[in-house]
Amino acid sequence: MSGYFEGKVAAVTGAASGIGLGLTEELLARGARAVFMGDLEPDKLKAASERLEEDHPGKIFPVLTDVTRQDQVEELIGGARNLEGHLDFVFNNAGMGMTLPTEQITFDIWRFVVDLNLMGVVYGTYTAIPIMREQGFGHIVNTASIAGLVPIPYQAVYAATKSAVISMTESLHYELSPDGLHFSVFCPANVKTAIFGAMAPPPDAISVEDAVKTILDEVERKSLIIAFPQMTRDIYGLYRTDREAFDGQMEQLARERRENYRTKGTYV
Ligand SMILES: NC(=O)c1ccc[n+]([C@@H]2O[C@H](COP(=O)([O-])OP(=O)(O)OC[C@H]3O[C@@H](n4cnc5c(N)ncnc54)[C@H](O)[C@@H]3O)[C@@H](O)[C@H]2O)c1
Repeated sequence: MSGYFEGKVAAVTGAASGIGLGLTEELLARGARAVFMGDLEPDKLKAASERLEEDHPGKIFPVLTDVTRQDQVEELIGGARNLEGHLDFVFNNAGMGMTLPTEQITFDIWRFVVDLNLMGVVYGTYTAIPIMREQGFGHIVNTASIAGLVPIPYQAVYAATKSAVISMTESLHYELSPDGLHFSVFCPANVKTAIFGAMAPPPDAISVEDAVKTILDEVERKSLIIAFPQMTRDIYGLYRTDREAFDGQMEQLARERRENYRTKGTYV
């Protein structure tokens, strides 16, 4: 470990559960000075932050945050910067899944998911940039998905938000790396979290612990795109190098999902 996170101040959104909570814990384990935990859910945020505070006194700062509200994201990130006058990491991670047949998708659903999965990341990114530019350093880490790297049937809304997060992050990397800013965007396949709601996570889902170790190892290496696990890299490779084979796999997946919706009312 190179000490990349040692003594650093981070803000994490969606920090009360799943990957965001795992990132918070792993940042502390790697020596972070403070983590500002932003989340929409007061009870989950209170429980998670109180538990972590016991082992890491003075290092946990829960801030009730709805990432679809620009003012609340600014408060979270401003608070982190004001602690000691530096903002080292922002993890724009809050988000939700959306896998539905097109006939069930409304424009309200579109707006809701875009507000959360894309605009939430936009607010966090564009609030952090001027602070980090003034400092001359800082690392912004955005959460996308395998569905942002490759098109996945029944996920048009979700995929649209996640691919936008990837392309925005990549564009900013090239523009702002001369100012000392680093950008990463991570693209997992299935991770065992509450994102699956009442459904059991798919059998191929990896643990939060494994996911966050991979993410922070790659952030430390300043990797721009963090695609994991291996299955994600394989399918992304197929998409770029053998479109016919990729199309065959996605057509098969679409048939399976169509049949599952017809017979079970859900995609798995
Ligand atoms: N779990 C997976 O398989 C998977 C795969 C690819 C990408 N992702 C992405 O990872 C991110 C985290 O998801 P997760 O799997 O940990 O799910 P999760 O449901 O466990 O955690 C999401 C957290 O975000 C919070 N949240 C929801 N809306 C919010 C809002 N408006 N403002 C602030 N916080 C809000 C929730 O309260 C929750 O604590 C999401 O962006 C998701 O799209 C997850």
